[in-house]
Amino acid sequence: MRLGVNIDHVATVRQARRIDQPDPVAAALIALKSGADSIVAHLREDRRHIQDADIRRLKAAVKRLNMEMAISPSVLKVALAVKPERVTLVPERREELTTEGGLDVAGGGTRLKTAVARLHQAGILVSMFIGADERQLAASAKLGASTVEFHTGGYAEARTTAARIAEAKRIAHCSRLAASMGLEVAAGHGLNTANVAAIVRIPEIEELNIGHSIVGRAISVGMAAAVREMKNRMRR
Ligand code: PXP
Repeated sequence: MRLGVNIDHVATVRQARRIDQPDPVAAALIALKSGADSIVAHLREDRRHIQDADIRRLKAAVKRLNMEMAISPSVLKVALAVKPERVTLVPERREELTTEGGLDVAGGGTRLKTAVARLHQAGILVSMFIGADERQLAASAKLGASTVEFHTGGYAEARTTAARIAEAKRIAHCSRLAASMGLEVAAGHGLNTANVAAIVRIPEIEELNIGHSIVGRAISVGMAAAVREMKNRMRR
């Protein structure tokens, strides 16, 4: 199973000061050197973390770039110009803290169909970020998606063991179905080292995309080194 590391929140820390550090491209290279198989970056319509220039720099530095995006005209323009290996289409609401649900592919209409066709024409693979729902799965296959990524937020946030098991079963069922339709299966959102096991056990899932927990953990495990580095510099 491959790991895609989402580096959005490295850019979140950078944008708090609007300077050039920490650099999400540098973080992407460290992630790849440490075993990540691909890099995920979400260019949001409001540009709250990743910026257009980051996508261009990531494309130059990283072979397997998965650009997440909603089908807003300005973001689609960047994707078509930069041509990442893959685009993952996600829903987006300005007021949300993170991608809260799956994309309504079945109700996406002409706008979605046109966007997918334009991405395909540019030679970009298209993945659909959907809930584990047969209708959305069938609609994704019909639009020619190469991958479906199941939203694991409901699983990760389930409050009871029974609810969590039920969510994992639903994802497993839809993963089997997706694989039988010839789709590549990915999953992500809210995964961390404490909850990833049940998702890893689903044999059809070929890739997990994980961001917040890895960037958060990097701050914890990196804090000691960063403080030591500063104290050493002050001493010298
Ligand atoms: N996959 C997709 C399609 C996402 O939108 C996100 C969040 O940006 C992730 C994976 C990663 O989620 P998290 O940051 O919770 O690990």
